[in-house]
Amino acid sequence: MDYKNLKPFPEGFLWGASSSAYQCEGACEEDGKTLSVSDTAPVPEGTTDFRVAIDHYHRFREDIALMAEMGFKEFRFSIAWPRIIPQGAGEVNEVAVKHYHEVIDECLKYGIEPVVTLYHFDLPQVLQDKYHGWTDRQCIEDFVEYCKVCFREYGKKVKYFLTINEQNMMVLYQGHMYGDEKAVWLANHNMLVAQAKAMIACHEICPSAKIGPAPNITAIYPASSSPADNLAAMDWDQMRNRLFLDTAVFGEYPEALMNWWKDRGVAPEVSEEDKAILKAGNPDFIAFNYYGAGCVKYVSTEEGEKLKAEAKEKKDFMTGLMTYPGLCAAVKNPLQEQTSYGMGIDPIGLRVTLRQLWERYHLPLLITENGCGVPDKLEEDGTIHDDYRIDYLRKHIIACREAITDGVDLMGYSPWSAFDLISTHQGITKRYGFIYVNRDEFDLKDMKRIRKDSFFWYKKVCESNGEILD
Ligand code: BG6
Repeated sequence: MDYKNLKPFPEGFLWGASSSAYQCEGACEEDGKTLSVSDTAPVPEGTTDFRVAIDHYHRFREDIALMAEMGFKEFRFSIAWPRIIPQGAGEVNEVAVKHYHEVIDECLKYGIEPVVTLYHFDLPQVLQDKYHGWTDRQCIEDFVEYCKVCFREYGKKVKYFLTINEQNMMVLYQGHMYGDEKAVWLANHNMLVAQAKAMIACHEICPSAKIGPAPNITAIYPASSSPADNLAAMDWDQMRNRLFLDTAVFGEYPEALMNWWKDRGVAPEVSEEDKAILKAGNPDFIAFNYYGAGCVKYVSTEEGEKLKAEAKEKKDFMTGLMTYPGLCAAVKNPLQEQTSYGMGIDPIGLRVTLRQLWERYHLPLLITENGCGVPDKLEEDGTIHDDYRIDYLRKHIIACREAITDGVDLMGYSPWSAFDLISTHQGITKRYGFIYVNRDEFDLKDMKRIRKDSFFWYKKVCESNGEILD
């Protein structure tokens, strides 16, 4: 629906941007930190690893000063579990505890609200080696103990905690690291229970703080208007989105999905005790990452198996992963614009997603990722003209305002990313930041921080509370 007048962004709206520890900190094995599963995962040829990243660990004061200059009201970053508890469980690393106090204090000094993710893809490698990570219930206890350390240390200063970043992406696209399909849903279940316990602990230890999950959520379009594709879109919405939010908010698995798993013999066992924990853990808000709406078609079990086998032969890893025989297969939406890296550009999809989340869950929403990852060119005069990024962000911010006018309770907009950092699979060349970091894949150069054109544009957005977008 179109409006004649759009509502303004609410007062106190959280304008800022996001990051994650392993993608920006560097200092990979410094001051007692041990490796995480992200540090040890093989990186594609031609791209850097995460050992030095953008050296944010040593340069956080300079980075936060630049964010303050942009007028940020919040900064979303993650705490590295293998830094705080190097062995995954047991002894706490006081140097690391002090470090994050300093980061938080530096934010507060400028009136920037720290939004702290407790776990962003960086399970301590020692726990993966010791008991195979999330497939073991011990991981629930170890995660909750780590969270409790963070709540006790930082709970008086931090108003917003996020539990687990993109649990759905970890499970759906990297779940094979846990084993067969049954192991994947077991690991997922353990993470859900851990998340619920962390939310309970947060409310007990620091009642003034708020906590929420941070999955990657997106509206799902059917590939055609056929009834079968419509059902497939609904089913994929259950598996990709609702599996992670119905459990977090209502403490219940989506019914049809559970029945489908049971029929195929892969359902996780949910004990009465776990049911009670899932019910007792309640989020105060929903944070979510959005990059572009999904599109699926129905595939029968037979067709799906064939598609998967063909994809395996062609070494087309993504198609294989995104095909669920008897449910759906992801397809490229010819009507959706894409970045040069094939990521969707779909601001209307963001409005649809915001509406769906608000109408289903009626909890305040916080956008914790959205952004345009492409190579940037540093000109000889030291400028970076990233008008494509400005254009991308402007359209998404307008979609936010339309959703607010629709009635959605949106708390803030925290795009990916505050500064350039190392992409999950595409190195430093795929840049998202407002702040350029002068390094290449293998040449660390001087790591100088340089303001992009989008930096000056976003400063006006933050300072005008979203009124000035040109
Ligand atoms: C999200 C992650 O999936 O997307 C981030 O939470 C990630 O860690 C971001 O960097 C962008 O993806 P990519 O692959 O371009 O780095």
